[in-house]
Amino acid sequence: MVLIYPGSFDPITNGHLDIIERASAICDKLIVAVGNNERKKYEFSTSERIKLIRLTLGDRDNIEVTEFSGLLADFARKTGAKAVIKGLRAVSDFEYEFQMALLNKSLEPSLETLFMMTSVNYSYLSSSAVKEIARNGGNIEGLVPDCIKDIVAAKLAHR
Ligand code: PNS
Repeated sequence: MVLIYPGSFDPITNGHLDIIERASAICDKLIVAVGNNERKKYEFSTSERIKLIRLTLGDRDNIEVTEFSGLLADFARKTGAKAVIKGLRAVSDFEYEFQMALLNKSLEPSLETLFMMTSVNYSYLSSSAVKEIARNGGNIEGLVPDCIKDIVAAKLAHR
């Protein structure tokens, strides 16, 4: 089974990494799909976001990291993935994710959305929080993967 894990990953956090590790353990192939929406303002460019994920993951046999733009349902159709996997941190994520799952299902009826609960130690974590902390000179250790911590901190310092 091929699963798609879509997101902005602006930047990847330890919460994303947790879902990637656990999701890739239960499928044949996990496609980490990095959204590139022209109307969205990202702190890191698409190639930077992909690079940070690849640095974090190294070489993994069953994980592919790739950019996608346009509708997720179209991307899923192109890749042949049967399902999308999303992480849920709290009840507050549910309403938005429920809407997205139903919209994607109406666009591509064969596409399932699966939800994986975040590990409890990452339930408070988001890319936005990481950016806010780093911009203000706070310590992001433990929030993002160790190997990208300095790159993320340097890019965001005093922005
Ligand atoms: O990490 P994010 O910012 O929550 O990720 C958002 C993402 C990329 C998963 C979401 O914006 C998305 O699925 N974009 C593709 C556009 C789409 O298909 N939208 C659903 C129908 S309106």
